[in-house]
Amino acid sequence: MEIRLDGKVALVTGASRGIGLAIAARMAEAGASVVLTARKPDELRQAAASLGADPEGSALPAAPGATGASTGERPPGGGTPTPGGDAAHGAPGSEAGHGAPRSEAGHGASGREMGHVPPGGDAGHVAPGLETGTGGALPAPSGVPGVPAVVWFAANAGEPDQAEACIAATVARFGRLDVLVNNAATNPHYGPLMGIDAGQAAKTVQVNQYGVLAWTQAAWRASMAERGGVVLNISSVGGLSPEPGMGWYGVTKAAVVHLTRQLAAELGPTVRVNAIAPGLVRTAFARVLVDDHGDRVAAHLPLRRIGEPDDVATAALFLASDAASWITGATLVVDGGALSTPSGGV
Ligand SMILES: NC(=O)c1ccc[n+]([C@@H]2O[C@H](COP(=O)([O-])OP(=O)(O)OC[C@H]3O[C@@H](n4cnc5c(N)ncnc54)[C@H](OP(=O)(O)O)[C@@H]3O)[C@@H](O)[C@H]2O)c1
Repeated sequence: MEIRLDGKVALVTGASRGIGLAIAARMAEAGASVVLTARKPDELRQAAASLGADPEGSALPAAPGATGASTGERPPGGGTPTPGGDAAHGAPGSEAGHGAPRSEAGHGASGREMGHVPPGGDAGHVAPGLETGTGGALPAPSGVPGVPAVVWFAANAGEPDQAEACIAATVARFGRLDVLVNNAATNPHYGPLMGIDAGQAAKTVQVNQYGVLAWTQAAWRASMAERGGVVLNISSVGGLSPEPGMGWYGVTKAAVVHLTRQLAAELGPTVRVNAIAPGLVRTAFARVLVDDHGDRVAAHLPLRRIGEPDDVATAALFLASDAASWITGATLVVDGGALSTPSGGV
C-alpha cells in the first residue's frame, strides 16, 4: 500500500531543519502542498529550496488584512544563536536506569524572541522575524490547482497571533489546511528542576505546550472545523519517562501527550489528533549528544542505532494519511526500543 497525500495541504512548524524538515519532505514527496514555518527566514528559504522550491519565489505572502506582515528584514542579530539558545549543545544522554542513555537532544531556544505585531497593532509596523516575502517572485496567489507547492512563512510557534497569520496565509494561498504538524519545541533550561527560573519555565510552556493548542485552534477556526483534517503533535520519550536535565521540557512533552488525547476527544469525528514520541534522533541540534553519547545509546537500544529524522517522518506520514483513519488520541513511540530497555529498577 502506497501512502499518498495528494491534494492535501500540510503545515509543519519547526520545519527548517531536523525532524520537521524530514516530515515536510516526506509529505511533499507524497503529493501534499507543504508550508514550512520556523523563526528564521534564511533557513526556511534554504529548506524550501532543498525540497525543490524556487528560492526566490517560495515565501508565502500574508493573507490580505492579516497582521504580522513585514518588510522581510531580519531584526538586528535575529537568528543568531545565543547562550542557552539554538546552538547545538546536546544535553548529556540520560541513563535508562542501567546506564543506557536514551535521552533525546536538549532543545535550546533562542534567547531572542522574535517580535510580532499584535492583533490590531500598527499598520506598517515591522514585525521582526516574520518574513512573508512581500515583493518576491511569487506564483499565482492561489497556486496552480493540482500542482503541489512548497512555501514558507516565518513565525514563532509560541506566538498565537503569528500562528493565526501563518495559517491565514496558508488558507489564502491554498484554500484549506488538511494536516497540521506541531513540531517546533524549545528547551531554554538544561539542568535539575530546582534550578529552572520562572522565565525559562514559562517560555518552555508557551512554545511546547500552549503553542500546540494555539496552532490547533487557529487551524480549527480557519479550516479544519469545516473541512476536517489531521493534527500531529511531536512529543518525546522525555514526556513518558524522566530524563536527567530535561525535566521541565519533559513535563511539557507529557502535557502534549494528554493534550493530544483531549483534543482527539473534542475534535472528532472531524479532526484526528495524534502524537509521536521520538527517542534520540540525529538532528543538527542533537549533534553534540550524538557525537558524545550516540554509540553508547545505540548499543543499549534493542534496534542498536539512534534515530534519523526520516524514522519520525515516515511515522508522521502514516499518521497523517488515510491509512490511519481509525487512529486518534494515540501517541506513537518511535525510539528504537529505548522505552523497552530493562530499567534495572527491579
Ligand atoms: N532530536 C531529538 O533527539 C528529539 C527527540 C525527541 C523529540 N524531539 C522533538 O522533535 C521536534 C523537532 O526537534 P529537532 O531535533 O528536529 O530540532 P532541531 O533540529 O533543533 O529543529 C528545530 C526546528 O524548530 C524551529 N524552532 C525552534 N524554536 C522555535 C519557535 N519558538 N518557533 C518556531 N520554530 C522554532 C527551528 O527553527 P528556528 O530556529 O529558525 O525557529 C527548527 O526549524 C521537537 O518537538 C523536539 O522536542 C526531538
